[in-house]
Amino acid sequence: MNKGLKNCKKDFPLLSRQVNHQPLVYLDNAATTQKPQAVIQRIVDFYQQSNANVHRSVNTLSLQATEQYEQARSKVQHWIKAAKPQEIIFTRGATEAVNFIASTYGADHIQAQDEIVVTVAEHHSNLVPWQQLAKACGAQLKYIKVDAQGHLDLQDAAQKITARTKIVACTQVSNVLGTIFPLKQIAALAHQQGAIVIGDGSQAVPVMAVNVQDLDVDFYVFSGHKMLGPSGIGVLYGKEALLQALTPYQYGGEMINEVDWEDSTFSELPSRLEAGTPNIEGAIGLGAAIDYLDQLSIRAVTQYEQKLMQYLLPQLQALDDVQLLGSEDWTQRTGIVSLNLGNIHPHDVATVLDFQGIEVRAGHHCAQPLMRFFNVTATVRASFYIYNTKEDIDRFVAALKMAKEFFEQ
Ligand SMILES: Cc1ncc(COP(=O)(O)O)c(C=O)c1O
Repeated sequence: MNKGLKNCKKDFPLLSRQVNHQPLVYLDNAATTQKPQAVIQRIVDFYQQSNANVHRSVNTLSLQATEQYEQARSKVQHWIKAAKPQEIIFTRGATEAVNFIASTYGADHIQAQDEIVVTVAEHHSNLVPWQQLAKACGAQLKYIKVDAQGHLDLQDAAQKITARTKIVACTQVSNVLGTIFPLKQIAALAHQQGAIVIGDGSQAVPVMAVNVQDLDVDFYVFSGHKMLGPSGIGVLYGKEALLQALTPYQYGGEMINEVDWEDSTFSELPSRLEAGTPNIEGAIGLGAAIDYLDQLSIRAVTQYEQKLMQYLLPQLQALDDVQLLGSEDWTQRTGIVSLNLGNIHPHDVATVLDFQGIEVRAGHHCAQPLMRFFNVTATVRASFYIYNTKEDIDRFVAALKMAKEFFEQ
């Protein structure tokens, strides 16, 4: 059911606070999103009414906690259209999920002379684990380029992905450019060469409908905190047969079948890949975040972000001496904008904005190779989400103009 995005800001208690004596405009959503009262309350309810460990006991509380934890898994399954709940493995976040695959599938399959292919736009979390794996195995790491507007170069991808490629790791949306990458085509190119594909959905799942079966990705990762959920919970999706064949990432409680003096047998998916007590309240909170987004409808979220970009981009393009990274076509991007104002350092711009209660991020955004590719050291990044409004955009643009006048006088 579509509850409507209008006025959803009031559902987020933190957004009513002031920063530096100004009403807050929160534009750092690509780093993390704020939480609606429904998510906060769901976690409080769990602690107040059902707190217990999962999968361990026949006591009532434990059974209730287990039921709620497994319901959260089903919600994630349906949200990304996975075929089965056991294809959803809870992790601490996207970073842990990538490291999980690099140190299990990667370590078992990559040999000297093999190739791992990534894009120049990967977040460090979907790059450094592959870089380190390649170094450890004597494999080669190759980068797919983007064009001047940040669109992924599919011709370059077709050349870089070869019969030697074993793993292709590609984000679905760049956390710096907001550009949407053709993950489905990348998966097809990889499969033609017998490689597997890891999709990074950290910036996609919060803002667009994702269907992992249609994308035909082998693994897919994302974090709960970027989609209204709590920190410390994330998702590793994997095709069942691939997950079945993985060496366990960690050993311990919850994941065993039988432990003897010399050896152990392991349980079925998904428990086999979730050793130890999981982040139960995190998963349940993520489930509540999915319910909240579902009420709004993910299509409405995508359209709303596009409307904001349609309003914002021409205003930014009209500014003097602005370097705007990413696609000029608002249909090819989500609500993330990276820019530089003349020679003013991004940290200075962000500080002036902060004085006015506007929270943006300045820096390399954990994508240093992409900064090098565009020959910049840092950018100002403003990232918008469901509770941001045209008024927020007006204040952001006015504050940018003020920063320019202040530093250039
Ligand atoms: C595209 C992308 N991938 C991976 C990550 C890492 O997410 P986390 O720090 O939640 O593990 C981020 C976080 O900014 C991201 O934007």
